[in-house]
Amino acid sequence: MAHHVHWLSNRHPRPAHLVVAGDDLRADRALTLVRRGRAVLWRGDYRNARQLLAAMRRRLDRRPVPPGDTPAETFHRHRAVTADRARLLNRLVLELGPGYRIDLPHAPDVSLACRQAYGPDPGPALVPLAELLGVLGAHQWRARGVLVPALDATIHPHYGVFAPTRQDYVQLVADAPWPGATTAFDVGTGTGVLAALLARRGAGRVVATDIEPRAVACARDNTRRLGLTGRIEVRLADLFPAGRADLVVCNPPWLPATPAAPLDAAVYDPESRVLRRFLHEVSARLTPGGEAWLVLSDLAERLGLRRRGELTGMFADARLTVVDRLDTRPRPRRRADSLSVYRAAEITSLWRLSAASSV
Ligand SMILES: C[S@@+](CC[C@H](N)C(=O)[O-])C[C@H]1O[C@@H](n2cnc3c(N)ncnc32)[C@H](O)[C@@H]1O
Repeated sequence: MAHHVHWLSNRHPRPAHLVVAGDDLRADRALTLVRRGRAVLWRGDYRNARQLLAAMRRRLDRRPVPPGDTPAETFHRHRAVTADRARLLNRLVLELGPGYRIDLPHAPDVSLACRQAYGPDPGPALVPLAELLGVLGAHQWRARGVLVPALDATIHPHYGVFAPTRQDYVQLVADAPWPGATTAFDVGTGTGVLAALLARRGAGRVVATDIEPRAVACARDNTRRLGLTGRIEVRLADLFPAGRADLVVCNPPWLPATPAAPLDAAVYDPESRVLRRFLHEVSARLTPGGEAWLVLSDLAERLGLRRRGELTGMFADARLTVVDRLDTRPRPRRRADSLSVYRAAEITSLWRLSAASSV
């Protein structure tokens, strides 16, 4: 592949070998090619490319992931198989002309969606179709927004930013007894959904942080849309902003595992490093009598990725006292997979914590 042609993917490496194909390529043959390490450069009808991709996916999904001997083994196997399938499916690629134009019959206009996901037009480029479909889906979500009943408003997620599609944890933050906070921090704000909720619940000033520039831009956008710019400040930061607050909220990545791509860092936290640092540093960020609210699912424990009691041990090590715990059960996903049985039992908790010396 000519190297002046840009490779657009946030997840998959540039393929070394391309095979040009069109409307007569069948899914079985396409799978044989991609399994041999080839990428298929599609020059047929755009709609046929989508159908081909769907047929390839169906074939790959036909074989269920066999469970491991332990929940953790099942989890690692599930991740490995999912990553392998994604690697194969992302080898069906399209050419983009200048201005993110697709010059194929029945191709949609993808220019705005691509600019939002990849930035300014890089000129001629190649993109995996599967990834492009994700980019288009994210663009639609951003335009339409996700209704958040607890806010009575829509939140507009940007590409690559953790979206509040699971309302359960937002509701926990809406329902927890309000500690009369006038200042609040929202650490790892994502779309800014919890920062907005804290402002709506009564915090006169909220400082929201995220380590991801995409999330910072997204949270600023949502803050503006909700008319909260005067009360919420969004900053790019590793965990805490400077100073202290009466209430510090954090919904950190909840699975102690290595992210496969930078965009997965909202979910995976290797060795619970973000969680541990949050707990160790939060006391020093609270005003006297202040509260920290940690929102965390117990899926890691159910999967055997974190020992039972390890979390409360972390609280004790960080000299944090549990004031209360509010629980909710996330609504099960529609799509069943080898982890569904663990997800069905998952509980998300809001831990109300205070600095041990302030109780
Ligand atoms: C599970 S998402 C929660 C997003 C949002 N608060 C919500 O509840 O919808 C975790 C967020 O933490 C951010 N994050 C991860 N590590 C961070 C760090 N060291 N400092 C600040 N933010 C971090 C991620 O970028 C992501 O936006």
